[in-house]
Amino acid sequence: MRILVIGSGAREHAIVRALALTPSGEPTGNVLFAAPGNPGIGDFAERSRLDILDPNAVAARAVELGVDLVVIGPEAPLVIGVADAVRDAGIPCFGPSINAAKLEGSKSFAKQIMSAANVPTAGSVTVDDVAALPAALDQFGPPYVVKNDGLAAGKGVVVTDDKGVALAHGESVIGGGGKVVVEEFLDGPEVSLFCITDGTTVVPLAPAQDFKRLGEGDTGPNTGGMGAYSPLPWSPPGLVDDVLEHVARPVIAEMARRGTPFQGVLYCGLALTSRGVRVVEFNVRFGDPETQVVLARLRSPLAELLLAAARGELADFPPLEWSDDAAVVVVIAAENYPARPVTGTAIEGVRRASEVPGGYVLQAGTDLDKGGRLVSAGGRVLSVVGLGPSLEAAQSTAYLGVARVRLAGSHFRSDIAAAVTRDLRKHNPGSPGAAG
Ligand code: AMP
Ligand code: GLY
Repeated sequence: MRILVIGSGAREHAIVRALALTPSGEPTGNVLFAAPGNPGIGDFAERSRLDILDPNAVAARAVELGVDLVVIGPEAPLVIGVADAVRDAGIPCFGPSINAAKLEGSKSFAKQIMSAANVPTAGSVTVDDVAALPAALDQFGPPYVVKNDGLAAGKGVVVTDDKGVALAHGESVIGGGGKVVVEEFLDGPEVSLFCITDGTTVVPLAPAQDFKRLGEGDTGPNTGGMGAYSPLPWSPPGLVDDVLEHVARPVIAEMARRGTPFQGVLYCGLALTSRGVRVVEFNVRFGDPETQVVLARLRSPLAELLLAAARGELADFPPLEWSDDAAVVVVIAAENYPARPVTGTAIEGVRRASEVPGGYVLQAGTDLDKGGRLVSAGGRVLSVVGLGPSLEAAQSTAYLGVARVRLAGSHFRSDIAAAVTRDLRKHNPGSPGAAG
C-alpha cells in the first residue's frame, strides 16, 4: 500500500514505524511518504515539504504521489478540513471531517454532544462574559478547572486551587475574543483509550496512561505529555467495554445521527472517579506519547486497519491482536520546555540508544543542521520506547536508552510507570518482573 502520513512528531514516527515494519521487524512492503516528517521518520518514508494546513495542497500531494491512503497525525489540519479535501480528491483518508473534528476543536461542542448522547462527563458551564466568571467558578468550587474552548496546543487548561489564577486564565481567554468552559473537578486516575471508527463500527485499542505534568510526582505545569505506558494492570476489569458502551459508541452514533459522521480515531481521555468513568476530553487524533506505547504492542497490521476505517469497512476487520509485552515511553524534552524550548542543540547517542535490546528511539523535535548533524528543533525532542515481558522490564529498557542519549540542558521524568511497577512488586513480592 502507498501511504502518505501528515505530521512530524514522535506520534507520527510511531505510526510510520508501525506501517513500515511487522511486529517481528520485517518490512511490511508498504511504500511510505511523510510531510513534513522528521529525520527519524526519513528512515522509513520519503519526506517532502508541504504546508499541512493547506487542504488543497495536501490533497494535491496525495494525488501526485498516487497514494492509497492518507493518515493525518495532528489535530490542526483536521479542524480546518484537510481530511475533507483529501476525500474530495477521491483518496481514502484516516481522520475526521471538519465538522466531526469539532469534538476536539470546541470543548463546548464536545459537551453538547456528550449531553445529547448521555455520556458521563464533568458538569460544566460555558462562559463568554468576564462578569459571569466568578459565579461559574463558585458553582463548582475548588479545585477550579477552566478550559479554553478552542484549540490551545496543550496550554488551554488550568486546574488550580487559586481562584485568582482561575479568574486570570478565564479573563485572558475571553479578553482575547474566546470563551471558556468552567467545569467540575474530576478526581481519580486518568486513562487514554483510542477508539478507531469508520463512523459506525468502533474498535478500541489498548488503554494507556500518560504523564501530563512536567515534574516528578505529577508536579509542575501541564505539558503535551512526558511519558506513557501500556497495559494498565490496575485498571478495572471491563473498563474498555464500559467505555465502548457508555462513551464511544453513543458519541459516534450521535455524530452520525447529526449527519456529521466521525471517522478516524476518537481519543477518549477519561477519569476513573469514585462515581465511575467520566470523560475529561475528546481528541480527534492519536495521543502523543500514548501512541508510542499502544502501537508498540499492536500485532495486527496498522495499514489495513486504518484503511478499513477510512473505507467504512471496519465491521469486516478481524479482531485485533496484541503483544503480551508491556511498553513504556519516556520523553526527552529540550532545555526550557515547555516555556520556550532551546533549539539547535546537538543530539548524540540516538543510534546507541536504539541498540538497547527491546528498545528504540522515536524522534519529534529534531532536525539536521547544515553539517548533517542531528539537532533539537522543538520542545519534546525524543521518545525513548522500551518493550519487555513486564512493565518493569519495559521501564528499565526505556531508561537504559534514555541514559545513552546526550542533549545538553535536556530533561526527562525519571518516574514514568514508577508507581505502577512499585505496586506490582508489592503485590507480587516473589516476582520482581511481575507481568503487566
Ligand atoms: P484537557 O485538555 O481537557 O485534556 O485537559 C488537560 C488536563 O487537565 C487533563 O489531562 C487533566 O489532567 C486535567 N483536567 C482537565 N479537565 C479536568 C477536570 N474536569 N478535572 C480534573 N482535571 C482535569
Ligand atoms: N497525551 C495527550 C494528548 O495527546 O493530547
